[in-house]
Amino acid sequence: MTNLIIFGPPGSGKGTQAVKLSTSFGLVHLSTGDILRQAIANRTPLGEKAKAYIDKGELVPDEDVAQMVVNAVDRNTDAGGFIFDGFPRNVFQAEFLDRTLKERGTSIHYLIALEVPREELIKRLLKRAEIENRTDDNLQVIENRIKVYYDQTIPVIDHYKKQGKYYPVNGLGTIEEVNRRIGDIINKK
Ligand code: AP5
Repeated sequence: MTNLIIFGPPGSGKGTQAVKLSTSFGLVHLSTGDILRQAIANRTPLGEKAKAYIDKGELVPDEDVAQMVVNAVDRNTDAGGFIFDGFPRNVFQAEFLDRTLKERGTSIHYLIALEVPREELIKRLLKRAEIENRTDDNLQVIENRIKVYYDQTIPVIDHYKKQGKYYPVNGLGTIEEVNRRIGDIINKK
């Protein structure tokens, strides 16, 4: 079983790369952002609650997201592994994920951290705003999402660095180029 976290700031390409890696390596793609947006679209109680946080670019409370992840993992008991996209987003979530996987006899193998400069993140997300309709893709909320990443999410790197699982990847270049860099890391082990 291979479990990886695709990590990085908003707009770094986590979702784009997760979709490709899930096909190449036969892993289940588990995106907390996608699950939350689906809950909002379905107007579930979780969706109604999450919307207020997402629209401001703040993190949805840990207990809600953690439960969602456990449910998704347990729905896929036959999975060859998982790509966690957008989770964990703070050290509490990282410790929770480690415990959840340990209880199921597995663990995280890689934290693939996409590195992309701030100006490029903003450029990509404003470009997506012209095409898609994400309520959090406007300059004010994008800037807060990036701030939340640097304030709350970055410490997750150290958590996995201590475990020898941290793999930084240059996230600039074409989608294919970035995908090859990640594939090289996974294939090498
Ligand atoms: P989430 O959905 O996780 O969004 P995010 O982290 O802000 O990231 P994005 O989806 O915007 O970007 P990405 O890195 O996936 O890049 P993408 O591939 O899309 O979270 C949204 C919200 O949900 C959070 O703010 C929070 O409120 C809540 N939430 C989610 N998880 C949570 C958790 N665990 N705890 C609490 N709250 C949580 O690419 C971006 C754009 O760039 C696309 O248009 C793409 O086509 C383009 N692109 C990709 N790669 C390249 C490239 N190499 N070159 C040029 N363009 C590229």
